[in-house]
Amino acid sequence: MNGEGIGKLTVRDVPVEGERVLLRADLNVPMDDTLVSDDTRIRESLPTIEFLLGRGAAVLICSHLGRPKGQHEAGLSLAPVGERLAELLGQPVLFAEDSIGPSAKKLARSLQPGEVGLLENLRFHSEEEANERDFAGKLAELASLYVNDAFGVAHRAHASTVGIADFLPAIAGFLLEKEVRYLGSLVTAPPHPFVAIVGGAKVSTKISAIDHLLPKLDCLLVGGGMANTFLKAQGFEVGVSLVEDDLLDMARGILERAASAGVAVGLPLDAVVATELSPGIPVKTVSVDAIPTDCMVLDVGPATLAAFEQVLSNAAAVVWNGPLGVFELEQFARGSFGLASALANLEATTVVGGGETAAVVARSGLAERFTHVSTGGGASLEMLEGVVLPGITALLDAPSRFPHELH
Ligand code: 3PG
Repeated sequence: MNGEGIGKLTVRDVPVEGERVLLRADLNVPMDDTLVSDDTRIRESLPTIEFLLGRGAAVLICSHLGRPKGQHEAGLSLAPVGERLAELLGQPVLFAEDSIGPSAKKLARSLQPGEVGLLENLRFHSEEEANERDFAGKLAELASLYVNDAFGVAHRAHASTVGIADFLPAIAGFLLEKEVRYLGSLVTAPPHPFVAIVGGAKVSTKISAIDHLLPKLDCLLVGGGMANTFLKAQGFEVGVSLVEDDLLDMARGILERAASAGVAVGLPLDAVVATELSPGIPVKTVSVDAIPTDCMVLDVGPATLAAFEQVLSNAAAVVWNGPLGVFELEQFARGSFGLASALANLEATTVVGGGETAAVVARSGLAERFTHVSTGGGASLEMLEGVVLPGITALLDAPSRFPHELH
């Protein structure tokens, strides 16, 4: 397949033998001190790395880790990530202690076809996030071809995601292609019935996605803290729950637009509540018209889950973004894990946004049973909002023949 589907050239389309490839990956993984605590993003980067190595390229990987804001922070070194990558690849990963300058150049020059190198955290230089041309040029000097597989950071216009494409022929890796294909096709031409489940703490972060998806949906299911704003907008008392009072009109507007577009909206029917958010606190399950004034909503209840499951059983496609409760605490995790398990049992296309929602699915142990679990939090949300991501725009268009002289 010649990059079809995402409209961009991919690693399949370009001869890479003998090339030194600068591969932008998103190796921004959760760390527990100096140990990688979740290696999903590293594993998801393997197909492109292995493909390039198998085709005789030398692969020089660059990434960010955390948000060091231009400072060198020892705790945000990519060295431990390189060690995990070496274990997963089953071959050494050579490491440069900087992403530009003498150590990076030395590593780049020494890399032979079939070898892998990793540059230190790009964000130790403020020029990376500022997308400074000079920094992008220095990165480009290290290679003859640029591959972007960092979907999780494709919504950022940084030197290593956008600026670099002015200097090197820029093409997509398999992970980026897969993400854009699943999320893009769902947003543009979903099979029906198409259901979106939105959750998470705040409605403010999801308004654009809801607005963009609404005309394409058959049903919108709302859970998580953001559902409180919808419930209050409908006149329910929600006790001391998190509510965005300035968005009550906005919530009413969404409900009105959904009604006039013929989109069914499912709000919580019952809720798991407690007087405060803390481990071991006594909880009760109440109907949404009986939330005690001194309590806060911290999860959806079983009647809500059953109603959501009923809707989902008829869906052809489902997108899920945002947990239904405070899933980090066991007492408030049933809604999110119950939903994960219901979705895992569907025949439908099931696509999960990255970040917290992907964390729920990973913890449920059911990730394999979803059609696609995104590796991008902010990036997947922006795709659901219909935003064209700058890291994707910067890549060469697929219909163009590959015209560039490499080396
Ligand atoms: C993520 O974790 O969502 C990506 O790696 C992007 O990170 P950022 O939000 O710090 O740019």
